[in-house]
Amino acid sequence: MKKVYTALLLIFQIFCFAQNPAANDNSYESKIKRTEWHRDARFGMFVHFGLYSIPSRGEWVKSVEKITNEVYDEAYFKNFNPYLFDAKEWARTAKQAGMKYVVLTAKHHEGFALWDTKQTDYKITNTPFKRDIIKEYVEALRAEGLKVGLYFSVIDWHHPDYPKFKDTHHPMRGNEKYKDEKINWDNYIKFMHGQVKELCTNYGKIDIMWFDFSYDEMKGEKWKAKELVEMVRTLQPSIILNNRLGGDGTTGMEENSFGDFDTPEQTIPEKAITDKLGRPLPWESCLTLNNSWGYNRYDNNWKSAPLVIHTLVNCVSKNGNLLLNVGPDALGRIPKQSTDILAEVGNWMQKNGKSIFGCGASTMPRYDWGIFTSNGKSLFAHRMYPAIGGIVLKDYSDKVKRVNLLQDGSEIRYETTWWGDNTGKNVYINVDRPCYQTFPMPDKINTVFEIELK
Ligand code: GLC
Repeated sequence: MKKVYTALLLIFQIFCFAQNPAANDNSYESKIKRTEWHRDARFGMFVHFGLYSIPSRGEWVKSVEKITNEVYDEAYFKNFNPYLFDAKEWARTAKQAGMKYVVLTAKHHEGFALWDTKQTDYKITNTPFKRDIIKEYVEALRAEGLKVGLYFSVIDWHHPDYPKFKDTHHPMRGNEKYKDEKINWDNYIKFMHGQVKELCTNYGKIDIMWFDFSYDEMKGEKWKAKELVEMVRTLQPSIILNNRLGGDGTTGMEENSFGDFDTPEQTIPEKAITDKLGRPLPWESCLTLNNSWGYNRYDNNWKSAPLVIHTLVNCVSKNGNLLLNVGPDALGRIPKQSTDILAEVGNWMQKNGKSIFGCGASTMPRYDWGIFTSNGKSLFAHRMYPAIGGIVLKDYSDKVKRVNLLQDGSEIRYETTWWGDNTGKNVYINVDRPCYQTFPMPDKINTVFEIELK
């Protein structure tokens, strides 16, 4: 009987493997295959939400101000009650902005779990709020057709078995009381892996696990990363992972390391990210809308909608994604300043999404007036900055089928001869001549010209 069972199990495992050959495979080809939807999606929402929304001084407040568990929990854990939280509202906000996925901090460095974890009492269901936010969140996202991402901090400033004295970041790093403290690291790893297992088991299909972060010797195998990743990929065969568990190298993106995509933070890479062989690597820049990830009412340095749109186009033109952050307040609401910006971005995306979704780098240079994205069938000229002169496509006269204004599909006329050039080889789109077509630019932020190719 036991033999029959073992044989059946083996057949089942072979079947699962055949369904998903890439599951535990970190080759370049598997990463490219796994990340296909993510690379098409291009635009996602990051949500930083936790106890730290109450102090409103960013998610690092416990470390920066060296706050003890007792003080932190008395002030924030005991009072956490975001009674205006509405997962559907968050999902709608993301969707209307043109985003295709969301990544929420299931647990940040403070160690507080937004779900009903069985590994600790330090969880949302033990606060006055009581509800399991992760459950409501995954359901609301799926209802809107958005992909589900979870951020998980492998660092934990609440757990008794996490190193404290002389750790680089722990709130108690300077507290002599912890100098000779004995901790049980294996116990911490068991706990941490246990939490990840719950997230990968109890909430249906998870599309992204966004681990954060590694530092000093706290990286790679210190986290038992190999085992962790294997567990995650076994439970969620098509999940994609970021690169912050840190491999034995530095970024976790090296051949055969765990990361499916790179994660530049608060910056846009100069050019498309590639591996040593020059092959493009998937990447996603994460960016705050003001200067803070977690809610910070003192921080009013908001980015404008045009800056967000230009940044998104910039990412896409280099084969990358933009993960744009919001930090809901202590009542669970995404700040009005953020939703206003996102609404404006969404308005542009609604008309011009075709130049973003499923698009990537083109072979065209960058110009004073802006940049190109491409989906292989069309080139999209993003006219973003005031500049003199039209759009010139060198050696393109044989390649162009038609040109249109993306926002309404109307015809844009072009020529193949122009001032001093009678070769007939080049294409000139006279964007700013009133008698021709569009003057002034119909979209002040970014007017997109679609050049359909033969
Ligand atoms: C950093 C910070 C963290 C933030 C993250 C976003 O790693 O520790 O607070 O969540 O970046 O990328």
